[in-house]
Amino acid sequence: GVVRATTTAPVNIAVIKYWGKRDTKLLLPINSSLSGTLDQEQLHARTTVAASSSFEADEIWLNGKQEDISNQRLQNVLGAVRALAAKKDPEHPLKDAHIKIASVNNFPTAAGLASSAAGYACLVAALAELFGVQDQELTAIARVGSGSACRSLMGGFVRWEKGTRDDGADSLASQVVPESHWPDMQVLILVVNAGKKGVSSTSGMQSTVKTSALINHRAEVVVPQRMKDIEKAIQDRDFQTFGRITMQDSNQFHATCLDTYPPIFYMNDVSRQIVQILTQYNDAAGEIRAAYTYDAGPNCVIYCLKQHVQEILSLVCHYFPSSESEFVRGRSTTASDYS
Ligand code: DP6
Repeated sequence: GVVRATTTAPVNIAVIKYWGKRDTKLLLPINSSLSGTLDQEQLHARTTVAASSSFEADEIWLNGKQEDISNQRLQNVLGAVRALAAKKDPEHPLKDAHIKIASVNNFPTAAGLASSAAGYACLVAALAELFGVQDQELTAIARVGSGSACRSLMGGFVRWEKGTRDDGADSLASQVVPESHWPDMQVLILVVNAGKKGVSSTSGMQSTVKTSALINHRAEVVVPQRMKDIEKAIQDRDFQTFGRITMQDSNQFHATCLDTYPPIFYMNDVSRQIVQILTQYNDAAGEIRAAYTYDAGPNCVIYCLKQHVQEILSLVCHYFPSSESEFVRGRSTTASDYS
């Protein structure tokens, strides 16, 4: 017979960025990171997995197109879930079954919208459901698919500890607070360009580690302090501190990209204009109301409080009246139900 499981997993947006690996096989980071998980209404990956001993091989379809199952990261994820299942039950009924995977995103792939994070988190959640395993170890399995994916297995704000072990066993994600801790927190995504980005985060961060003179200072000195400070700001619901650190960490991440040789440019003129507009807006208000952050692409993500959403939307629409830019609205979500 065939057994099946379907799950969805949300996108996460880092406020302390993961950038740089100390191990490129196990995807172990040089610094800890922290993100907010978005709700799944607008941005999610949906994955169905089916297993049967009558299937002749493992297969995968992404957004309707068959992809190469021999992809190393995919193989690592499949191998790790099978190993976890075998550890819990050496006679697991699916131990000799092949698996078919079908995954779709409801948002642009590789546009810097963390599609690989939601995708791998979703795959791991679906496989975990199929094999009947539940464990914090699952975040380490999502991590070997794509580093940032380990932060999409939980809702609210989530930290990913860099860990110190060579085998990655302590490089895990855990929840800082659930979504209910800060219900006024909102996330707006301004899609500046939904096209595929130039330099992938995987190769970009390797290039930074190899050539940037600034990245070690960031990883060893700046990020450890920011992790403490932003966790406290989240606990205290202190948006001023939260917003300042978020913007500073985005700025520093893009500074290390510029410090990479050859330099990497993820933000474009529109991205920089938005920084300027939001900076003026915050200055005029005499407080931080809109905290921007940019990943490995030109799209702007704004963390803000509910009471300022309308103001910020009209501000951006005023400056980009006829642009193709569109807002995707989200809020951090409660722990997602993968069942
Ligand atoms: C800028 O997780 O996509 O979004 O581990 O190589 O798959 P790999 O990289 P990935 O990098 C994400 C980088 C980032 C920052 C972040 O999400 O923390």
